[in-house]
Amino acid sequence: MLKTHTCGELRAQHIGQEVTLAGWVHRRRDHGGLIFLDLRDRWGIVQVVCDAALSVAAHRAAEEVRGEYVIRVQGTVRARPEGLANPELPTGEIEVAATELEVLNPARTPPFYINEDQPVDEALRLRYRYLDLRRPRMQRNLILRDKIVSYIRDYLHERDFVEIETPILIKSTPEGARDYIVPSRVHPGRFYALPQSPQQLKQLLMVAGFERYFQIARCFRDEDLRADRQPEFTQLDLEMSFVDRDDILELIEGLFIGLVERMEPETGKRLKTKPFPRLTYEEAMARYGSDKPDLRFGMEIIDLTDVLGPSDFRVFSATAAAGGQIKGIRAPGCGSYSRRQIDELTAFAQQRGAKGLVWLARTSEGVRSPIAKFLSTDELDRTIERLALEPGDLGLIVADQPSVVAQVLGQLRLEMGRRLKLADPDELAFVWVVDFPLYEWDETEERWSAMHHPFTSARDEDWKYLQPGPDYDPGKAKAKAYDIVCNGWEVGGGSIRIHRRDQQALMFQVLGITPEEAQAQFGHMLEAFEYGAPPHGGIAPGIDRLVAILAGEHNIREVIAFPKTAQATDLMTGAPSPVSQRQLDELHICLKPDES
Ligand code: AMO
Ligand code: AMP
Repeated sequence: MLKTHTCGELRAQHIGQEVTLAGWVHRRRDHGGLIFLDLRDRWGIVQVVCDAALSVAAHRAAEEVRGEYVIRVQGTVRARPEGLANPELPTGEIEVAATELEVLNPARTPPFYINEDQPVDEALRLRYRYLDLRRPRMQRNLILRDKIVSYIRDYLHERDFVEIETPILIKSTPEGARDYIVPSRVHPGRFYALPQSPQQLKQLLMVAGFERYFQIARCFRDEDLRADRQPEFTQLDLEMSFVDRDDILELIEGLFIGLVERMEPETGKRLKTKPFPRLTYEEAMARYGSDKPDLRFGMEIIDLTDVLGPSDFRVFSATAAAGGQIKGIRAPGCGSYSRRQIDELTAFAQQRGAKGLVWLARTSEGVRSPIAKFLSTDELDRTIERLALEPGDLGLIVADQPSVVAQVLGQLRLEMGRRLKLADPDELAFVWVVDFPLYEWDETEERWSAMHHPFTSARDEDWKYLQPGPDYDPGKAKAKAYDIVCNGWEVGGGSIRIHRRDQQALMFQVLGITPEEAQAQFGHMLEAFEYGAPPHGGIAPGIDRLVAILAGEHNIREVIAFPKTAQATDLMTGAPSPVSQRQLDELHICLKPDES
């Protein structure tokens, strides 16, 4: 090693020792005959003093160094003078008096401060990611990520799981998000796909008899990116044989509880409730307007259809008559909202699909609301009681089809939660959402699509809704599918799978996949199920999201070493980039003229 000690480890007990240190110049302060350097490495920062009276050469070398120079220093550890200890630094009681200083590599002036935690334009950070990653926050995030993954591996190995790698070049199959595809040079006109997840492969590993598989797996999806989505991301992918739903839920719950509690001294994040509550999809949608509810605060959505449907307010009566819902939330202490604030909320609701927003302020004198005149005293009283409005509170009501009501009030609930700071940033409110519908109706393609994925089993009692015949009604079928949600983020999803060929064929049939297409696309799965496939199921928590939540970050880019932008570009290397004509020729690819 070029160093005997790290910059972070020196303490009073080292006083008198000769040490050699190496790292980056974090800060330099020139006091003429004395030059102070804060020397930084991964483990911390230590003060180096270059005193011309002690070593002319070291002092002269220190005159030349600048921030982020890589240097090596030899010297003696000594106590800082009386009154000059720095209690902010773990090494603050001591300093290193330099006898030799060698510049290992100079550095250009960095495009942003590395030694100060200031906001920096993200494009600049991504362009110089290797400098960005030198900053304490990013070092902490990536080291936390390593600890989390290592905890996960230990937990699963202790429970007899086998980590198995699966290929990155696989077959493109329909369903799910858009694939990234890779042209084959040896097979003109043919393509591999990068896996959206190892879903089919982990099921085939169950057919292969491994019983307990996991993998820290890279997944690729060509979809629209958001704060919690990257084109490539990492899953804890997991599958088990001879289990039912609760076995998977208990395994993962034990993992997350242990993980959060182990990391708490470092993250300051604590569990809100354990065991984790469970909500059915229907309950989650009805009470929180979302299948990934933030349960750090209440503000549940309350049904008022029976109270307000019969009222004289035409919007309400018409909505109820059309089979819609009238629902509301209580915004505590917002009864004095100004006209402008109400208009803002109305616009917020309309942008999310509402036709309007009824408000209702309870005051000490009574009720203020634009629709008060349309409601009877009884209707008003019951509305206030149902919403539990106290004097000073504001009620917000939306009438529409259930999906619109859920969408709008779900978002409004989150918005009011933000405004009122109801969610404790240090609390982790995990919740299981279970009993998802098996299918959802795809309006554009006018067909059923799998809500989770086409390998998910229906509940035993719901297979009849898939069979052609009088019971046929795929929209009614519930799946053996579950999500683990935390603070409004979908952290993971999974299901008990189909393991019989006839049921898998039925699933494809409802999806509108012909037997010929099923054979061409998924023949390997159908065939495998004929060779003794065990009952199996699994789950895949997203590692990036889990780490971001534990690190207190709002964007998963902050916990990925080299992430992509929202336009799926890599600002550091410049990917995606053009390739040479020769490469294209080898791959039998001809670009459209306007795209080359
Ligand atoms: P699913 O598609 O629900 O399930 O994904 C599981 C988890 O992966 C994470 N995730 C993402 N994270 C970052 N960027 C993305 N673009 C992204 N997409 C998904 C989320 C999500 O909950 N094979 C199934 C799992 C199974 O059935 O076992 C699957 O991939 O945290
Ligand atoms: P209007 O009769 O359209 O002037 O609406 C009267 C009030 O009802 C306004 O405050 C609208 O924002 C509100 N409103 C209209 N449609 C709806 C709806 N579907 N749900 C809730 N409020 C609505």
